Amino acid sequence: MKMPKLWRVARAVATGHGRFRRWTHWPRRSALATCAALAVLCAFVAVAAARNQSEKTKAGQAHEAPSWAFVVEPRRPASHGPAKPADDAPRHVPGSRAAFTLRQINDGFNPPDWHPGGHPPMPEVVAHGRKPRVMACGYCHLPNGQGRPENASLAGLPAAYIVQQMADFKDGLRKSSKITGPISAMVTHETLANKQEIQAAAKYFSRLKPKPWIRVVETRTVPRMHVAGWMLVPVAGGGRVPIGRRIIETPVNLERTEMRDDASGFIAYAPVGSIRKGKALVTTGGGGTTLPCDACHGPDLRGNGNVPTIAGRSPSYIVRQLCDFQSGARAGAGSELMEPVTAKLTVDDMVSIAAYLASLHP
Ligand code: HEC
Ligand code: HEC
Repeated sequence: MKMPKLWRVARAVATGHGRFRRWTHWPRRSALATCAALAVLCAFVAVAAARNQSEKTKAGQAHEAPSWAFVVEPRRPASHGPAKPADDAPRHVPGSRAAFTLRQINDGFNPPDWHPGGHPPMPEVVAHGRKPRVMACGYCHLPNGQGRPENASLAGLPAAYIVQQMADFKDGLRKSSKITGPISAMVTHETLANKQEIQAAAKYFSRLKPKPWIRVVETRTVPRMHVAGWMLVPVAGGGRVPIGRRIIETPVNLERTEMRDDASGFIAYAPVGSIRKGKALVTTGGGGTTLPCDACHGPDLRGNGNVPTIAGRSPSYIVRQLCDFQSGARAGAGSELMEPVTAKLTVDDMVSIAAYLASLHP
């Protein structure tokens, strides 16, 4: 029902006009009529409030967290069939002499290190974590710190920044606009790491050099996706669908990514024109939409002092963070500076910014 019509109905009920007249003729019904009028007025106010909210959404102040950046794994129905025999076949990846079984690959306390020559020796917390609850940082963030779309790259982040983020997660100052399994594991399990472990992990990851990891491809259509392993993965034989205003980040080689090969990266599909639009926003602030990023993140956007790098990082991660600063889910010590940067951004702006940032050399 449109608002003016709602209003006419409210007035008719209150004054006993039109087909609502019957109600007001019977005196005992006049109280009822007033109640009904009030109820209709309440509905009117609610519709107006909802409209106001959607206008806010258009201005980018309170939009919903986009599901393609905050990917949630669907619940699988419990399997009642006969238990499958254990698959203990050794797996291999290109460029590595190592071999791991599926069980070893999925061990959160001893994840596979396919390329031990590609990084310095890992401290205990990165390689194994601490049972029963602190999983190895290298399980999710990978031994070389390159990370995956559902978590974060840690390679080359300033050590003091990593320590501060761990404190923010622990103190409830860094939450998420939409909780996913990996994010809640980060917040509830990994913040049980002690001070020495956090220092060791921070020192380790800060010394790693980030590698090019994401190839951005502008396109009008993308393979149809579903969520598997907290990532967007093409549906076999699913054809292509319009990309819309989304970024679709997916493994270049699903098999290698599933085996936690830290030498196999990602492809990010972005709408046509987004890199160009993103570049304008990032470098000029887009005439007041945001602030130029280099002022704080350094001239090449690869970080400055304790301000983290934003170049060549996962666009899904970037969009999640921009949403989290905007919604106030991320409210740690350094977040205040990101408030004016994100206040007016729409999801469209975030898509463009993230596509441009991901296209840069890390
Ligand atoms: C279960 C998977 C998982 C494990 C294990 C894990 N993390 Fe994370 N971590 C995440 C996720 C997911 C995020 C991204 C949160 C988001 O998107 O807001 C994250 C983000 C971070 C960040 C923020 C990065 C940034 O750029 O601001 C830091 C720092 C971090 N993790 C450190 C660690 C350390 C240190 C360990 C080991 C003690 C660890 N993590 C273990 C999943 C994990
Ligand atoms: C006035 C300074 C300032 C400006 C300008 C600024 N940033 Fe930031 N940014 C920061 C600080 C400080 C942090 C760390 C926040 C924290 O400690 O939680 C940050 C963090 C971020 C993060 C999260 C990184 C991570 O590792 O989790 C992203 C993404 C980001 N900024 C993007 C941008 C973009 C895009 C722009 C430009 C459109 C921009 N920033 C402009 C100061 C700034």
